[in-house]
Formats: sequence, C-alpha cells, structure tokens
Amino acid sequence: MHMLEVKDIHKSYGDLEVLKGISFSMNKGETAVIIGTSGTGKSTLLRCINQLHPPDKGEIWLDGVNITDPKIDINKIRQKIGFVFQEFNLFNHLTALRNVSIGLEKVKGFTKEKAEKKAIEELKRVGLKDQAKQYPAQLSGGQKQRVGIARALAMDPTIILFDEPTSALDPELIGDVLDVMKSLAHKVAMLVVTHEMGFARNVADEIIFMEGGVIVESGPPKQMFQNPKKARTKEFLGRISTLYGKD
Ligand SMILES: Nc1ncnc2c1ncn2[C@@H]1O[C@H](COP(=O)(O)OP(=O)(O)O)[C@@H](O)[C@H]1O
Ligand SMILES: [Mg+2]
Repeated sequence: MHMLEVKDIHKSYGDLEVLKGISFSMNKGETAVIIGTSGTGKSTLLRCINQLHPPDKGEIWLDGVNITDPKIDINKIRQKIGFVFQEFNLFNHLTALRNVSIGLEKVKGFTKEKAEKKAIEELKRVGLKDQAKQYPAQLSGGQKQRVGIARALAMDPTIILFDEPTSALDPELIGDVLDVMKSLAHKVAMLVVTHEMGFARNVADEIIFMEGGVIVESGPPKQMFQNPKKARTKEFLGRISTLYGKD
C-alpha cells in the first residue's frame, strides 16, 4: 500500500480546467519534487491534496484512508499533512516559538508547557534554537521559512507539502532552507514544488513534470535528467537547469 495515492484528480476554477487527471503515488518517507512552468497547476494540486480546495473529481488516499470522502474529519487529516508556503504565512505578532507551539495547543490540545517544549525541539532541528524568542520581523527570510518548516514538523505529519519554499528568498539564504529540507529526507515524506534543480537531483526519489494540467513524465532523477522519454521533459529540464542548476 502506498502512503499517498492521488487518483485521477480533476480541478476547475469556473471554466478553467486546471488539473486534467493527475495520478501518482508516494511511499513512506519518500521525497517527490514537482516541476513545471508557472500557471500549470502545481499549487492547485497541493491545495487539492490538503483539501484546501477539494478536487472536483478523483480520489486521494493517505495511509489507506480516502481523504476525499466527504464524510472524513478534515481537521484530523490536516494534522497529518503539513504545508510550507512560499510566503511563510507566519503570525507576525507571535514569536518564533509561539508560531510553532500554538498549533500544538489549539489543534492537538497540548498544554502550553508541553507545546513549547516540543516547539523548542523542532526549532533546534531547523537550527533556530537561539531565535525562539524573536518575532518574524527580526528574522531573515531563510529563518522565517525554517520557522515555517518547524511549525509543520511539530504536528508530526505523515507528509509535508512545500509550495516553492525558497522562491521568495534572497539567493544567499536559499541554501540553509534546502539543507534543512535535505536533513528531513527519509524521516518524513515531502512533496516539494521547486525550481531548485540541485535539490531535485540530489534529494528527490521521484521527479514529476507537470504541464497543461497533466503529468507529462515522472521518474527518478537519474532517468529524468539523463534519459527522459519525452522530448518536452528534456527541453524543460535543460532550460530550468541552466537557470536553477546549482548543487
Ligand atoms: N483560486 C483560484 N481561482 C481562480 N483561478 C485560479 C485560482 N487559483 C489558481 N487559479 C488559476 O489556475 C491556474 C493554475 O494556477 P496554480 O495552481 O497557481 O499554478 P502554478 O502553481 O503551477 O503556478 C492559473 O491559471 C491560475 O490563474
Ligand atoms: Mg504555484
């Protein structure tokens, strides 16, 4: 049984059909990277998976449970699916520590003390122990994003979805965030939308190339980079690697 199974997902906004039948699966602890040009439906797919925008058609199974079943307790499911946003989405009036601990209190029902203890552990894990008492405005973009990752990790999710986690960062701050993500590989499953080809090449178990609302091709990095089956995959990877190819 796959940990995540996405089966023939369709999603439209009004007359615009964005996802035209997306199917793929992931195993426990795997990292999959989604690539594709802007406007191709990558963010929409992530939002379908965490049910922020439920799909119009198709099913998503997580740990053997059909999470697209309307009868499911979606709040319970969301605890299993972490989300890391391009724009961080931190609470600016809360410290790094509280940004991480508050969900544990409100969603998981931890006491404040227990939530903060766990939050400190997660901040340590992303290299931010010393910044626990700082507010987002006092942190760099890379630090803010690492708080976002700590917040996702704190819920002990089955999978974390990352939507272009380094796209809003200055180039010199991208490496720290990618290093933290790399350190999580095989500990938690990650589904990552990114243009960072070094990360895709070195960390991903699977690369999924989306275009026009469908998956054009997917496979392990070696196959995708060295021996793609579709001419379009080769063309896209060639172009994107020139722009974002640093290891
Ligand atoms: N909430 C929405 N309402 C209407 N159209 C949307 C909405 N979200 C995304 N779209 C449209 O769906 C298409 C895919 O968007 P998106 O999933 O954000 O692509 P990507 O993340 O690959 O850049 C785009 O044409 C976008 O304008
Ligand atoms: Mg997007």
